[in-house]
Amino acid sequence: MCSVEFVCKTLEDTKKLAYKFARLIEHDGCFINLYGEIGAGKTAFVKLVAEAVGVTEKVTSPSFVILNEYHSANIPVYHFDLYRLENEGVKTILDELREYSESRQISFVEWAEFSQDEIPFNHIKINVTYEEDDSRKYSFTGIGDDCIKIVEGLKQ
Ligand SMILES: Nc1ncnc2c1ncn2[C@@H]1O[C@H](COP(=O)(O)OP(=O)(O)OP(=O)(O)O)[C@@H](O)[C@H]1O
Ligand SMILES: [Mg+2]
Repeated sequence: MCSVEFVCKTLEDTKKLAYKFARLIEHDGCFINLYGEIGAGKTAFVKLVAEAVGVTEKVTSPSFVILNEYHSANIPVYHFDLYRLENEGVKTILDELREYSESRQISFVEWAEFSQDEIPFNHIKINVTYEEDDSRKYSFTGIGDDCIKIVEGLKQ
């Protein structure tokens, strides 16, 4: 396991972080679980990473549809939101989530809380929290060799 955290005072700081992260995952892809309260900045980060890898469609929150997908960049981007599925519903799509971790694609999962610790494959966890001054803290943890390497890359 390998962790690193960044405090982003403004959306512009979050953009820089998202672009740096994008450079590290745009070639081979990655499965990313996002944690954090409503309005913390999960979707904001996904939007910026999608922009950075070249997605030209408008990226919107998948809260009501559970999954949005974007195919305009060189790598496909999938964006899940498990909020409406809750724990029981998530059990029914775990196998599907595993498939989204297997080939070359970027998969983001918002409200990964609902998958508990049931994600048995390599992934990166990003925890987003508010700080006192309205800035946001993004904490990254890599699970599995390839994901650890990506998080190491963020430190440089
Ligand atoms: N430094 C920052 N980083 C990210 N977002 C910021 C920052 N400063 C302000 N914001 C704003 O905070 C809001 C974050 O909303 P966002 O939709 O990303 O939250 P969320 O975590 O996806 O919430 P939900 O659980 O409702 O999906 C956006 O309006 C964004 O512009
Ligand atoms: Mg969101």
